[in-house]
Amino acid sequence: GYTWADVASLESPAEGARVRVRGAAAAVRAVGRRVAFLVVRQGAATVQCVVAGGGGMARFAAGLSRESVVDVAGVVSRPREPVRGTTQQLVEIHVEKLHCLSRAVPNLPITVDDASRSEEDVARAKALVHVGQDKRLDYRVIDLRTAANQAIFRIQCQVENVFRQVLLSEGFVGIHTPKLIGGASEGGAAVFKLSYNGQPACLAQSPQLHKQMAICGGFGRVFEVGPVFRAEGSDTHRHLCEFTGLDAEMTLRDHYTELCDVVDKLFVAVFDHLNTACAAELEAIQRQYPFEPLKYSRTTLRLDYDQGIKMLQEAGVHVDAMGDLTTEAEKKLGELVRERYGTEFFMLCRYPSAVRPFYTMPCSDDPRYSCSFDVFVRGEEIISGAQRVHDPELLAAQATARGVDVGSIAAYVDAFRYGAPPHGGFGVGLERVVMLFCGLGNIRKTSLFPRDPKRLAP
Ligand code: 4AD
Repeated sequence: GYTWADVASLESPAEGARVRVRGAAAAVRAVGRRVAFLVVRQGAATVQCVVAGGGGMARFAAGLSRESVVDVAGVVSRPREPVRGTTQQLVEIHVEKLHCLSRAVPNLPITVDDASRSEEDVARAKALVHVGQDKRLDYRVIDLRTAANQAIFRIQCQVENVFRQVLLSEGFVGIHTPKLIGGASEGGAAVFKLSYNGQPACLAQSPQLHKQMAICGGFGRVFEVGPVFRAEGSDTHRHLCEFTGLDAEMTLRDHYTELCDVVDKLFVAVFDHLNTACAAELEAIQRQYPFEPLKYSRTTLRLDYDQGIKMLQEAGVHVDAMGDLTTEAEKKLGELVRERYGTEFFMLCRYPSAVRPFYTMPCSDDPRYSCSFDVFVRGEEIISGAQRVHDPELLAAQATARGVDVGSIAAYVDAFRYGAPPHGGFGVGLERVVMLFCGLGNIRKTSLFPRDPKRLAP
């Protein structure tokens, strides 16, 4: 009999162990008529299998199309020369039985080898095939098999996991809010409208309204991991039409900076965890997409918006002190902060009220500014947060002033008429966190099946 084994842990069974593995035929090479080498891949791990001897098994192996799914049973042995390859095992399998469970088409639209190459490699050797982003995404199920992609989505899962773990330990409760709602939660633009049994409705642009209503419902601290829908019109490297939101909302004692304290604890824990527990995954990504490790400190730098504006102006960048920052200005500020403070992770606090959503609390000392903040990684926003208005009259007035139809969010405004504590929260874009931590440059790389303004398939 044979024992089922994982390719990644094949080194632990002793030499001579009889194992069975199932995986994809990553490479097939015939040597004469009686020997074939078959590389079997499982996740990001591969093992070389030697198919030798008569009975036609070597010929059968040589005829396998790449990416076909096979069962291999045989004996673990140590090759005379170690098999080369980054995730290759130091052992090989001498095959006694070979079955093909699913035959891949002989002409794959893209190959995992081509999709695994770094831009540098392709540039160096002109003969190599460059697989463009669109083609990768068209054939995403093949593209996802690269070592870098296997690592990216394992890292994404870890970010989500640490987010949950840290917030649970801080007394937050995980909730799920409706994604079919009656009115836009972030204000008019970029909303997918639909008919809810004849009634106008939309896909939630965030859990904003209902996470606040959960606070009104007596939960002191809540979080949610769930889909967020934005009808983004323009194609950019960092906007998706559907992404995963990591949201938190909590009552406040004195000041909105209590939110910054939670963000601080949370993200230092996320980054530390990635750097230690996910070192192998980061390496796999770096092999295809080289990047410098993120610079961050134990306590996160907090700058006021005014300070940020001043730094930009001193550097000769033209910015409106009471307006929003452009993507380029944010990027520039990220560089200035890195030069001056040596960190690529920081918070910008006290934004002008005019550039924040209608539910944002104005500062008590100067209502032109708000109790809000954004958080940046490598000069790009990953989080926005704020204290919320919990007075229903002020909330309705701010909504109307920003052109939000109060009628469509009446139940939300009313929620604050039955007793509502001071509170605030923040929202994180999961795909952005992974994209920016790993310096990937395009959010489509960190979405399993991205939905961008043009793409609804696969
Ligand atoms: O800045 P946003 O729009 O803020 C909110 O949704 C608030 N309700 C959050 C809060 O609690 N105050 O979105 C939050 C985060 C952004 O910082 C960004 O990381 C991400 O969500 N994000 C997007 N990610 C991908 N594609 C898009 N189109 C995104 N829009 C925002």
